[in-house]
Amino acid sequence: MKLDKVTEIFFSPTNTTKEVITAIAKGIGVTNTEAIDLTKPAIRDKFNLHIESSKEILILGVPVYEERIPEILERTLTKLKGEGQAIILIALYGNIGEGIALKQLKSLAEQGGFKVVGAASFIGEHSFSTSKLEIAQGRPDRADLKQAEEFGKRIAKKLKNTADIHKLPELKIEGKLPLMAKILPRNSARFFAQKPQVEKENCNSCGICVSRCPVGAIAKDDLEINDMICLRCFACVRVCSQEARKIKFKKGWIIKFILKMKSRKRKEPRTYL
Ligand SMILES: Cc1cc2nc3c(=O)[nH]c(=O)nc-3n(C[C@H](O)[C@H](O)[C@H](O)COP(=O)(O)O)c2cc1C
Ligand code: SF4
Ligand code: SF4
Repeated sequence: MKLDKVTEIFFSPTNTTKEVITAIAKGIGVTNTEAIDLTKPAIRDKFNLHIESSKEILILGVPVYEERIPEILERTLTKLKGEGQAIILIALYGNIGEGIALKQLKSLAEQGGFKVVGAASFIGEHSFSTSKLEIAQGRPDRADLKQAEEFGKRIAKKLKNTADIHKLPELKIEGKLPLMAKILPRNSARFFAQKPQVEKENCNSCGICVSRCPVGAIAKDDLEINDMICLRCFACVRVCSQEARKIKFKKGWIIKFILKMKSRKRKEPRTYL
């Protein structure tokens, strides 16, 4: 099978998913690439993609939220349709647990009419990571990105040697939902972390946080956050050069203890192809 285009589709508030997908695309080695960034509400809202070319390959990547794909993407991803094209699925998680995100992506991709030719979970710095509570800090690191590029190369090689991708065996993706994730309601991050309020004395009103919020939760005029829609992705904290927003936990020490315990051992990427 000959490839002439790579389409990267991702949701990535703090950029780790995007970084890994870019490395995989580099490994595939096709120069004609298109990126569709579902982090932007306007792109997500009008997203409706039907792929027709049989020479196009897709890379679809999302972060793991509560051991699943982020809830706000569930409906959006049903609007991705294909006609048997090859797709690679990527889940980025913060060194705690990848849960069932890849399994969910696989069933969405197959329902959309794609053939899953590769899948992988990678590790990215946890959205809740701070200098005082480092969780997978600096990841994906050089070793992760090298693995991502290598993974892309291996997929390109596999496809080059395959006349009919539909004859490739189905990938058996592993993953299960831990008890805690089953019990807690969806979007429970707001029970554990405060919304990152603006500290007006440090803010220079640049507005970058407003434009980077993936759900439009920050008001343009007073920079206050709508608590009910804020995902606690902390993209607004990361992009603020003035450190005018901070990550603060509710029930502080318990949450920090749990996060530390669950993330203490370095996890490694897992690939399927
Ligand atoms: C609301 C929320 C829930 C999360 N749940 C998990 C989780 O269940 N397991 C985990 O390891 N990381 C979890 N993370 C961390 C992200 O998966 C991780 O930081 C990822 O690299 C973020 O991707 P991005 O940089 O592309 O936004 C969560 C992050 C957020 C914001
Ligand atoms: S990014 Fe920081 S400095 Fe800029 S408006 Fe937001 S809080 Fe203020
Ligand atoms: S306001 Fe909430 S959803 Fe928006 S960027 Fe900040 S943490 Fe993420």
